[in-house]
Amino acid sequence: METKQNIPTVPLRRFFKHSLEILKNPLPFHHQNFEEQGDVFKLKIGFKNSVIFIRDASMAEYVLQKNQKNYTKSKIQTEDLVKYVGKGLLTSEGELWKKQRKLIQPAFHKKQLENLLESIKDAIQLEYNKIIPNSVIDIFPILNDLAFQTVVKSLFSSAANQTDINRLQYITEQAQQMLVKELRQPYLGWWFNVSGEIKKHVDLTNEAREILKRIVNERRISNIKEHDLLDMLLDAKYDDGTSMEEEQLVDEILILFTAGHETTSNALTFITQLLALYPEWQEKIYNERIALKNESDDLMDLVTKSKICQQVIEEAMRLYPPAYFIDRVNKEPDTFNNMDFEAGSNLLFSVYEIHRHSKLWEQPDEFLPERFSEGSRKFSSQYFPFGAGPRKCIGNNFAMFEMIIAVSELVSSYKIIPDFETIDITPLITLKPKNAFLKFEERM
Ligand code: HEM
Repeated sequence: METKQNIPTVPLRRFFKHSLEILKNPLPFHHQNFEEQGDVFKLKIGFKNSVIFIRDASMAEYVLQKNQKNYTKSKIQTEDLVKYVGKGLLTSEGELWKKQRKLIQPAFHKKQLENLLESIKDAIQLEYNKIIPNSVIDIFPILNDLAFQTVVKSLFSSAANQTDINRLQYITEQAQQMLVKELRQPYLGWWFNVSGEIKKHVDLTNEAREILKRIVNERRISNIKEHDLLDMLLDAKYDDGTSMEEEQLVDEILILFTAGHETTSNALTFITQLLALYPEWQEKIYNERIALKNESDDLMDLVTKSKICQQVIEEAMRLYPPAYFIDRVNKEPDTFNNMDFEAGSNLLFSVYEIHRHSKLWEQPDEFLPERFSEGSRKFSSQYFPFGAGPRKCIGNNFAMFEMIIAVSELVSSYKIIPDFETIDITPLITLKPKNAFLKFEERM
């Protein structure tokens, strides 16, 4: 029998000592602890509370895939987020999750997504009209709107008017910001309640729910088939032949807004910044695009054959994974690598650290898209931008297709010039870019 290993523990005083720095950007603190303690360490964050940080890729595989039945998501997703987006795919567990995943999965199959590509491209082109050539602009707000518009147009085609869309985007972003506040300052929870801040945001969410119900009902009575995501969700049937109830449908739509919007806009911003720093990859994508266009104008061909563009996107998400942490809690005690994890342990997998682990990657901090020349499957045991196992992102193909169209459209119209020194990040719920100042020169 192998000897048991203790989980190295970082004491509470160290957490307090670094608390300001952690609030600003916790990643250097985590990195230092990983370097000193190893790939698994426990951080005390209160007298009773602790979190186990992990950058062991095989443990991530074990928890997310092999023994996933013993794990649930943390309270952040299954309780805190629920008050703003309800109980749907991202936020539910057990039988409800299983039933919803089975129902919704077909809407995200590659074949089905083909119907959405034209709308996605139109939404992207419309947003790119906001780019002012030759002047320095922060690209994040444009890509942020782009990602929201893409989800809305894929869901509703032209059924939602611009006023509704703007309001829905505003409310989604407000709710997300409120959640960030609650998570970062948990000691102010009582104040957020007393001051009515939480209620204000729940009311806003209720307003969004009413807008969505109106759009859904208009579609129901119109009898028009748009073949968009909403049609798919309305037509989908559970095993017993029934369809989704209205409230559940609204929850799922709010969840698609939340899950599909910020992650994609972050990724697109990092990709654009990296392209600005590595112009040779802009040229490679540009040449690939021209060659493909000479063969066919079909969007499905573009998204499945743009191999260089895909490599750039994969490498950007390795270095800057928008979902930079994945959390889980074990139901029953578990053992991995001779370490015991008592039931209810809070596990936090640092996707950011796994993606830059020097034992897993050659030149881990360098931008080398060619490492993905044979696709990302080769790295499936250490590369998790979309998670892994049964809870893997349902929108991963959607996001890849959207990003390939967005990047190849951008590069085919503009040369991207950086107006920043280094890529700055703000790690919140997702890994967000900061100061993405760029200049766009029109290609002749
Ligand atoms: C670059 C873009 C994206 C990234 C990096 C990303 C990442 C992820 C990750 C890591 C998870 C798993 C979380 C966990 O296991 O705890 C997830 C789940 C999910 N994502 Fe994405 N996502 C992206 C885009 C999208 C898009 C565009 C949509 C929808 C339109 C979407 C919808 C969802 C949903 C519904 C879930 C929950 C799935 C379930 O639990 O069954 N995501 N995403």
